[in-house]
Amino acid sequence: MSVQQESKSKVAVKPLDLESAKEPPLNTYKPKEPYTATIVSVERIVGPKAPGETCHIVIDHGGNVPYWEGQSYGIIPPGENPKKPGAPHNVRLYSIASTRYGDSFDGRTTSLCVRRAVYYDPETGKEDHLKDGVCSNFLCNSKPGDKVQVTGPSGKIMLLPEEDPNATHIMIATGTGVAPFRGYLRRMFMEDVPKYRFGGLAWLFLGVANTDSLLYDEEFTSYLKQYPDNFRYDKALSREQKNMSGGKMYVQDKIEEHSDAIFKLLDGGAHIYFCGLKGMMPGIQDTLKKVAEQRGESWEQKLSQLKKNKQWHVEVY
Ligand code: FAD
Ligand code: A2P
Repeated sequence: MSVQQESKSKVAVKPLDLESAKEPPLNTYKPKEPYTATIVSVERIVGPKAPGETCHIVIDHGGNVPYWEGQSYGIIPPGENPKKPGAPHNVRLYSIASTRYGDSFDGRTTSLCVRRAVYYDPETGKEDHLKDGVCSNFLCNSKPGDKVQVTGPSGKIMLLPEEDPNATHIMIATGTGVAPFRGYLRRMFMEDVPKYRFGGLAWLFLGVANTDSLLYDEEFTSYLKQYPDNFRYDKALSREQKNMSGGKMYVQDKIEEHSDAIFKLLDGGAHIYFCGLKGMMPGIQDTLKKVAEQRGESWEQKLSQLKKNKQWHVEVY
């Protein structure tokens, strides 16, 4: 099955038991006793001109490690922890990029969006493969049928609030930070879930290096065609586009461009989510503060109100 599923009409899913649960599953499997899952597929999802490699990885958990959209899985890569001889590696967290039904709509799989972590020698600027990231390279190199040690699911910060199916959700992602949002958007636009028939507005801002680095672009573009009143999609291509001052185009520049609309939506109760590079938050906060000041508002007060109202959701790494 292709990663980029074009949704012509919604897929009717057989509701899982966990649709009726009040709370999400949490840490069903812990690092001392992980679940042994099986790799279904590993697909490179960026083009040849993308700097770096990102893979879409589907894992079969047999229905044993259920989760909600916005949660993460932990992965324990095989091998010995270099810092604790004889002990396994530490767990690495990965945001889940599918809905609870998985890409095959049967509740048996989980998808991850993983970027290979590589080390660039600061002197030569060249990759040093002796220092490749352990877990991301293990995942991107794995083959169908390989076993993978899974923990979790974990995290409550990025759960999709579903009380109001007509709410507005503004999603800001850099790179693999798009993972939870792919899950949300599939739940909103690809699956027909009786409990959650989305009729609100979802607005995705995605920051990547260039066109070849776009993630799940066909899927998102198909929602634009089918649900033009419910979906907006803005891309910041840092190495292809320039911002108003002639610098790199980052998600915060797109936020600034649309700041009036964003502030109005936030005032109306919209949720705003940030996921991806830790480094984006200071730039985003500066932009939002600048816009608030131009509007004669105090950003500090606004932010504390957004947090108090549970409208502000951040998961950066
Ligand atoms: P590690 O082996 O842990 O190495 C870390 C870095 O150090 C690498 O860049 C490596 O090249 C470098 N390094 C290795 N040796 C040396 C050395 N001797 N000197 C200097 N540098 C060295 N990542 C995703 O790709 N997708 C996600 O959806 C995702 N979601 C996340 C969600 C959360 C909540 C969190 C906390 C993190 C998430 N991450 C995600 C990041 C992920 O957990 C890992 O941190 C990432 O994949 C790197 O792990 P690794 O084992 O590959 O690298
Ligand atoms: P760039 O790498 O051109 O500086 P990555 O591919 O490393 O996951 O990054 C995803 C996107 O986030 C890239 O376009 C990257 O731009 C961009 N980015 C890097 N630093 C920041 C930052 N401080 N604020 C916003 N976006 C950033």
